[in-house]
Amino acid sequence: MSIRDSDVQRVREATDIVALIARRVSLKRVGGRHVGLCPFHTEKTPSFSVDPSQGFYHCFGCKASGDAITFLRETEQLDFTDAVEQLAAAANITLTYDAPGAQSANQRRKELMELLEVAARFYHERLLSDHDAGPARAYLRRRGYDRDTVVKWRLGYAPPLWDALCQHLGVPAALLAAAGLAYADSRRPSGARRDGGTSGQDSDAPNDDAEIAGRASDFFRDRIMFPICDASGRVVSFAGRVLPRPDEAPSKGPKYKNTAGTAVYDKSKVLYGLHLAKHAARTADRIVVCEGYTDVIGCDQAGISEAVATCGTALTQQHAELLSRSSKRIVLAFDADAAGQTATERVHQWERTYALDVFVAALPPGSDPGDLAETSPPALRRALEEAQPLHSFRAERILHRAELDSPAGRDRAADEAAEVLAVYPADVLNDKDLEPVARRIPMAVADLRRRVDAARDRLTQRPASSAPDPDDAPLPPERDDGYYDHEYERGFDPTGRTDRGPAETRLSRRVQVQIERSSRQRARRERLLLEAAMAPEGDAVSLITPELFVSNTALEAFSHIASDADWRDDEAVPSETDVVGGASGSPGEDVRDLLAAAAAGGEKLSSEEALGRVAIELRHFVSETVRRISEGADIPFTTLNVDASQAERYHFRRSWLRWLSEREVELRDVKQQVGAASAVASWIQGGIEAVKPGPVASASHE
Ligand code: UTP
Ligand code: MN
Repeated sequence: MSIRDSDVQRVREATDIVALIARRVSLKRVGGRHVGLCPFHTEKTPSFSVDPSQGFYHCFGCKASGDAITFLRETEQLDFTDAVEQLAAAANITLTYDAPGAQSANQRRKELMELLEVAARFYHERLLSDHDAGPARAYLRRRGYDRDTVVKWRLGYAPPLWDALCQHLGVPAALLAAAGLAYADSRRPSGARRDGGTSGQDSDAPNDDAEIAGRASDFFRDRIMFPICDASGRVVSFAGRVLPRPDEAPSKGPKYKNTAGTAVYDKSKVLYGLHLAKHAARTADRIVVCEGYTDVIGCDQAGISEAVATCGTALTQQHAELLSRSSKRIVLAFDADAAGQTATERVHQWERTYALDVFVAALPPGSDPGDLAETSPPALRRALEEAQPLHSFRAERILHRAELDSPAGRDRAADEAAEVLAVYPADVLNDKDLEPVARRIPMAVADLRRRVDAARDRLTQRPASSAPDPDDAPLPPERDDGYYDHEYERGFDPTGRTDRGPAETRLSRRVQVQIERSSRQRARRERLLLEAAMAPEGDAVSLITPELFVSNTALEAFSHIASDADWRDDEAVPSETDVVGGASGSPGEDVRDLLAAAAAGGEKLSSEEALGRVAIELRHFVSETVRRISEGADIPFTTLNVDASQAERYHFRRSWLRWLSEREVELRDVKQQVGAASAVASWIQGGIEAVKPGPVASASHE
C-alpha cells in the first residue's frame, strides 16, 4: 500500500512546517528562517533551522535534516504512511493509494484500531470502578500501583464473564476476532459464569443480539489488562495477566495471555511503552529494554521513563531497528537467568547493523527490573547506570563457564573469548575493553589482543588466498579493479563486457570519485550487495542495480546473478551462462566460487536480512553524501552552471540535501526500500533529470 506521490506532494505543500515543528521546538524568526534548539541532539545554542519557503529543516550541529514528513517520522517514530496520513488529516486532504484494495485494507485497520480503543476504555473503566475488579485493584495496590500509575498506563480489568466485551462492543463476531478480542465461534458451556459472581449478563439468558455477537466470547476474561500501543500511542493489542488469588486453586491458563497477530499487530515489530519511552530516551540518551510489561511500569515508577519491553517474544531485528531510531545506546535489562542471558547474546548481530552501543545491566539473580523497582529503586538505577558493554558481557560469560585453573583451560578460554570479541572491528575494541577480560583469565592484554586479531583474520579470510587482504591494499590511482580480482583468472571475462562505452566509463569514473576515499568501505558494500543478491529467496536482487558496483569483477558477478535467477539455486549450473561466458572453463563455477568466497566468514542470509542489509548499506552511502554536501562539498555527479550565483548554489545544494534525506528515510522503510534504492541508483547513474528536485529553477526567480 503506498500513497500516491502526487498526494504526498500535496500534503507537503499544505503543511505549515514551522507550525508543526513549533509544537515541539520553540522557534525564533531570523530573516526568512526560524531557529531553535535542535530536538535531535542536546545543545545550548540553537543550530536548528527551519526554512518555510523550502519546507525543510536542517541542524548544523547534528546534520539532522528533512521535511515535515521526515520530522514527524523522526520525532514520533512513525512510518512514512502513518506520518503522511497524520499530516493529510490535519490538512483535510483525502489520500489515494496506489495498490488496489489498499484503501480498504487501510479502512479495515482503522476500524480495528477504533475497536481496540473502545475495548481499552472498557477494560480501564472496569478496573477503576467496577465491583468485580476489587481483587484486581487490591493486587495492583499491593504491587505499589496507585491510581496515577493505573491511569498513565491505562491498565484495565477484563471481567470474569464470557462475553462482557463482546456485548459492550456489539459488532460482528468476525470483526471482534480480527481485532484479537474474541473467539469468533466458541462453544459456550451452560451456566457460563466462570466464578461465582453477582451481576446479570449471564449467557444463558435468551440473547436478542445473537445475530451479531451471540457466537463470540471474550478472549480475555478475569485478567488484568495491559493495553499495548504502537509508537504513536494507538492501542494495537492487549496482554492479560492472571490474578493470583490466594483463596483459589492455581489459576488456569498462562500467566500472560497475549493478542495473537492481527492486521494491526505484529509482536515482532511492537515494543511495549515505546510511545512514552521515545521522548524520555532523547533526554536520557539511552533506551532500556526489559522483558516484561511490569518491568516497564516499575522502571517508570523508579524514574526511568525510557524503558520498553518486548511483548512475550524475543527481541527481533525489527525491534533493534525501531530502538535505533530512539537511541543508539541500548541497555538490556533482562532477567539474570539463563534465558535472559541467551536472549542478550542474540543482540550483538544487530549492534553494527544499526550502529548501536549495547550495554547489559547486571540485575541481582532472581530479580527483574519490576521487582527491583519495588524493593530498591536506587539499586535499579545503579544497575542500569553500571551496565557493561555487550562484548565484555559475552566474553565474561565464556570465562564463567571456562576452567581457568590449568594453562590449557586458560588457553582455550582465551581463544573462545577472542572469537566472540573478534566480531568487533579493531578500531571499536580498544585495550580498555580487553583489559577486564584479560584480567579474568588472567593473561597479558597484548596477548589477548593478538588472539582477537587472529580470530578476526580468520573471520574475514577467504579460502585459498595468500594474497594480502585487498581491504587493506591502497586504492590504485587510476583504475580500480576491485576486490575480487585476485581470485579471478587473468583475462577472464564471463560477460564479454570488454568494450564498455564511454558513457559507462564516465559513470564508473564518477562513481569511483564519489567513493574514492574508502576502498575498504566500498569493498565491504560490494560484498554485501553480492551476498544479498544471491540470497536464496532472491527478493533482494530487485534492490540491487549494476550502478552500485565499482569493481568490474563484482559487476560481472552481479550481472550473472541478475540475469539468471538460477544463479541463486545451488544445484543448477545454467548452460546459458556458459555460452555467455565464452571463456575457457565454466564461468558458472567461477562466479559461484567467487560468491562463495564473498560469503565465507559471513552467515547465510535470508532474503529479508539481505534486503535489510542492502538498504542499510545504501543508507550509509546516502547519509555520508548528505554529510559531505552539508559540509560544503559540491554535489556529486552534477555540474553546476558556472554562472550560478552563490544563492542559487545554496538553494540547489539544499534541495539535493532534501531529496537525499527523503531517500535516506525511505530506505528505512521496508515498503519503500526498493523504490528508494532504484532512485538512488539512477541518481548515481547520472539520471538526475528523473529525480531532480525543482528549486534550481525556482531559486533563480527569487
Ligand atoms: P515474567 O514471568 O517474568 O513476568 O514474564 P513479569 O513480566 O515479571 O510479570 P510480573 O512482574 O510477575 O507480573 C516476562 C514476560 O514474558 C511474557 C510477558 O510478556 C511477560 O511480561 N510472558 C510471560 C508471556 O507472554 N506469557 C506468559 O505466560 C508468561
Ligand atoms: Mn516481574
